[in-house]
Amino acid sequence: MFDALGFIAAKRDGYSHSTSELAQFVMALTRGDIPDYQTSAWLMAARLNGLTAEETTALTIAMRDSGVLVRAAERLAGPTLDKHSTGGVGDKTTLIVTPILVACGLKLLKMSGRGLGITGGTIDKLESIPGFRTALTPEQAVHQANEIGSAIISTSPDLAPADGLLYALRNATATVDSIPLIAASIMSKKLAVGAQTILLDVKVGGGAFMPSLDAGRQLAGRMIEIGRQTGITTSAVITDMDIPLGRCVGNSLEVREAIELLLHPEAADHRLLNLCTYLVTHALIITGIAKTQDEALQKMTNAVSSGTAAGALLRMIHAQGGPDSLPAVLSTLRQADVVQPVMADTSGRIHHIDANRVGQISLDMGAGRRTKQSSLDYAAGIEFVCGHGSTVHAGDIIAYLHYSNDHKENATTWTAQMRASISIQPSNINWTDRPVILDTL
Ligand code: URA
Repeated sequence: MFDALGFIAAKRDGYSHSTSELAQFVMALTRGDIPDYQTSAWLMAARLNGLTAEETTALTIAMRDSGVLVRAAERLAGPTLDKHSTGGVGDKTTLIVTPILVACGLKLLKMSGRGLGITGGTIDKLESIPGFRTALTPEQAVHQANEIGSAIISTSPDLAPADGLLYALRNATATVDSIPLIAASIMSKKLAVGAQTILLDVKVGGGAFMPSLDAGRQLAGRMIEIGRQTGITTSAVITDMDIPLGRCVGNSLEVREAIELLLHPEAADHRLLNLCTYLVTHALIITGIAKTQDEALQKMTNAVSSGTAAGALLRMIHAQGGPDSLPAVLSTLRQADVVQPVMADTSGRIHHIDANRVGQISLDMGAGRRTKQSSLDYAAGIEFVCGHGSTVHAGDIIAYLHYSNDHKENATTWTAQMRASISIQPSNINWTDRPVILDTL
């Protein structure tokens, strides 16, 4: 019988748990032997007193072993990579980077999450494509990734189930923002899938879980250490999430933006394109597909300009139940009842767009979920026509709000909130572009 009371008291009093205590805790949790109030008490003690690097790795391994292991590296024919973002506002990079990497010869079997709060989730974005199924079994996902190069699936009760149990309680007890708990949550799922190489995109800033570069580095360091101790090549890129990524925030809008980037990269938002280029080239180098940055860039350029990358995305969409051509995907994406312009109230240059506020507005519009049970409006969201650094005149359209008729009464509030989230400064004030890549570990 697991001594839950002693386990909680030890963490409350600042002691470290042994590997075997953590393994017993996770086993008891997964069997349903620990009441939620005791797990919640331990989570708060862990949130306040922290976990050492050794405890974090031991917790991660125990969570990985709470379910089945896919063993992607052994079962997929070809080099395997798992790419994961810690979550941000407008972050559709997985939809772009995955097919480009497949076109360059990698296999990606990825378990992705749903959006929660202001950060969007890849699964919600994919499910905004009518017909798209994300609930594949691990066996189906392995088969599909072997056939066409990629599969993106939702978290399954079979894979790292302890994470699902802990995450739901963390979300209800204000214990999400703990570096060791986030590291264990993300890495347990990555290890359960078992790719050869893991590439992490750790987001920092107002639109992310990690508020600062320093916190981002700590989280990245913990996850890399877990990778090292479990024998998986793990690299992390720390990237800016203080301003929304790309032009669109909202599920269908972001799918459209991702497809358009693959078809017409020259017209894409430059920060989104820079980030995707960096992630792809870095992934090609750490997996050994390319030896140099120039070679990696050449492979990416060929994959996109030949249409192979767009084809890889289409094959995955179609294999998982979506339409059989990209024009058909674009034409079946849901459209909002109302598309309302937001105008600049002054002239000057856009110095900043507050990702946190934009994320909150899009959440209110129905693009995100406040609780795991909230339903989504796939068509809802925000589309920027002017970006960070653009020069605007009073009265110019800077963005469009996409929302349903049910929300008409909120339009004035959202317009005011949008204006407050966009800082327009006189054009003679110095402006420098904000780098999207902050560090690579
Ligand atoms: N993503 C996860 O999978 N887990 C966390 O704890 C935070 C982000």
